[in-house]
This record gives sequence, C-alpha cells and structure tokens, in this order.
Amino acid sequence: MAVTISQIVQAMQPSATMAMAAKAKERKAAGKTVYDFSLGEPDFNTPEHICQAATRAMQEGHTHYTAASGIAELKAAVAKQYQQRHGLEYAPQQVVISNGAKHALNNVFTVLCDPADEVIIPAPYWVSYAEQVKLARGVPVIVDTEQSNDFRLTPEALRAAITPKTKILLLCSPSNPTGTMYSPDDLAALADVSIEHDLVVVADEIYEPLTYGNAKFASFATVRPGLEERTIIINGVSKAYAMTGWRIGWSLAPPHVAKAIASLQSQQTSNPSSISQYAALAAIEGPQDCVEQMRAEFARRRDFVAQRIEALPEITCPNMSGAFYAFMNISAYLGRRFNGTKVETSTDWCLTLLEQEGVATVMGSAFGAEGYARLSFATSLEVLEAGFDAIERFLKSATPA
Ligand SMILES: Cc1ncc(COP(=O)(O)O)c(C=O)c1O
Repeated sequence: MAVTISQIVQAMQPSATMAMAAKAKERKAAGKTVYDFSLGEPDFNTPEHICQAATRAMQEGHTHYTAASGIAELKAAVAKQYQQRHGLEYAPQQVVISNGAKHALNNVFTVLCDPADEVIIPAPYWVSYAEQVKLARGVPVIVDTEQSNDFRLTPEALRAAITPKTKILLLCSPSNPTGTMYSPDDLAALADVSIEHDLVVVADEIYEPLTYGNAKFASFATVRPGLEERTIIINGVSKAYAMTGWRIGWSLAPPHVAKAIASLQSQQTSNPSSISQYAALAAIEGPQDCVEQMRAEFARRRDFVAQRIEALPEITCPNMSGAFYAFMNISAYLGRRFNGTKVETSTDWCLTLLEQEGVATVMGSAFGAEGYARLSFATSLEVLEAGFDAIERFLKSATPA
C-alpha cells in the first residue's frame, strides 16, 4: 500500500524561519561560526519566579488534565489583564488557553472559515498565517503594503481587496516581520472599513509589550466602540515573558466563537500543558518588572541595529517601533555577485550571506516581500556587533554582475 500525503498538506509551505534556523544549526554543528539572527525568540531564560511556579504546580499535583479550554484562574487573569491594560471587558469564558499563539490562530481560522471564505492578510506577513488559512480551507488574500508607509495597510488598499467572500481581516501589530506598528488612528480607519463591510478582525497582539520610543500600542478592539463583537484578539506569554518553549497562548473572542474554539480544542488537542498554564498564571499575576527589563534590553539592541543599518550602503529599513525585527531592504544588492556568486533573489542573498559570512537571516520572499531580509535582534549585543561586521564585509565584496 502506498502511503500518500493529503493534497492539502502537500500544498503547504514549511516554515522558512525554521528552515533557516535549521541551516544555521547545521553550520554550527560542523564547527563553523554562525551569527544567528533567524529565529524570533527571546534569548533570555524564563524569569525564575515563573519557573518556580511550574515546580510548585507539579509538587501540588497539577499534573492532570485540565478543562480543555484552560484553567479558570488563567482565563480570569487574562481577562483581568485586558481590562486593566486596555479597559476591555471580557468574561473569563471568552478566553481560551491554547498551545501557544500559533495554535490559538489555527483554532480561529478553523472555526471561522468555510470553504472559499477569504482572509485578507497584509504583506509582509508572518509565515504561518497564509498556510493556516489554507489548511482551514479558506483563501488567503495577500495585500501588499509600502515601506514608505512603514508597511501599514491603508483603508483604501483594504477596501480594494474586499469581495463578497471576504470574511476576515488579519492584523499583526507590532509586526513580525517588519517591526512596525499601527497607530490608534490607523487602526480606527481600518475598523471603520471593517464595520462597513461586516468583517471579523483577527488582531495578533503577541508583541504588545515590546514597543520602543514614543510609539504607543493600541489594542484593536479599543479604537471604536463595540468592536469586541467582531474582534478576536490573539496574545500569549511566549514573547513578553521569554516563554516560547512553554507553549501557552490564547484568544479573546465573542462568546459563541470562544465556545466553538473550546469545543474544537476538546476534540483536537485537549488542554495545553497543565504545568505551563500555572507558569503562565504566575507570569501574568506576578511582578512585571522582568518584562520591562527585557524590553529595555531589546530597546538598546534596537538602537544599535538601527544605527548599524543606517551605516550600511544602499540598505534601508522602516522605523522599528515594536517587536524585535529589522526588515532590511536589500533590493539594491540583487543582481550583483558576491565573491563570484550571482545573487538574484532574497533567498540567494540570505543563503550566500550564511555561506560566506555565517550570518543567518530570513529571506523576505518567505514573508511575501521579495527584495527584503529579516534580521531578528533577539540576540546579545556582542553577537549583533560581530554579525553586523560580517554583513559589512559581505556587502563590500559585492561586484556588479
Ligand atoms: C506574529 C506572531 N504570531 C504568533 C506567533 C506564535 O507564538 P507562539 O510561540 O506563542 O505560538 C509568533 C511567533 O513567532 C509570531 O511572530
């Protein structure tokens, strides 16, 4: 019997960020120097009081199944956090705790999409959105944005992309991969179009606490009255508390949507790890100075990266106001040779940079933006410094084709 893979999974693109990270690891294993700026995860360890809460949870016997949608205390804590930070009133039953924000997003597309329902995704986009929409049998509709506008979707571009099949608008702010953020006014303009066309908005707010300078984060549902009815917020502990490995994220949704997500989760995965849920509870309810300490360190690195990119000939980058990414416009270097190797695409550029100088970045094409490369600065200043020296050497070696 031939074991065949379903067409829907055969058509799926594997995650390019993970593929680049794997290539970087291979080089490292071969004993070569690698400056790894490929993966989007904080390099800090999870704060100690959170780890201790996990140990306590195990000792106290919280090692059994929990409710499929998560423990009541964590759901209540998430609802309270959104109330305190943003003045949004969510009941604990509107919160579903999942295996990371990625799982929370996948749940949302699965419960909302019927075949051929369209989901508008502004490009550059995080690698998993379009693939998850396709797996849910929806249709991703990619809408390009401009670097000159910090890659923000405009109401005009949104309006032009809407068809009778449009169901969802997806927004990610602060953004992976661009490191930019929507202002409250930007969001309000998009909210008006969403209300006019009766769209659901999925707001991925996973990078919420990581903002820099004067940029002010606004939660999408706050920018117009009544938006909670059409908004699904995605958030979690992975980025803010350096808890990527614990796999805890969540959705806040209208009651009937939350009920559908809980029901889906009860059949597909059951609860996320009980121990991780207690750790996440300690993260949210405990002291928040660890978040600010990590943010301040990211801010230092961001300033350093901005200064180094500014000094790179013919490379530009939008203003980095949030998350921990620099989305570099490398288009001036495409079509040139680097030590004899012809570089035509952002994939060529990233692979050649890794091969020749050991610097791992991710090609813009993976995020729907050819001509760019994403550099994650969730790495020490020391590594960033050596990595930028290597990028400078690489660019200097460029010759016309
Ligand atoms: C924009 C965005 N959303 C969601 C996620 C997924 O987060 P988690 O690790 O909690 O699944 C990521 C992780 O890289 C991300 O960058």
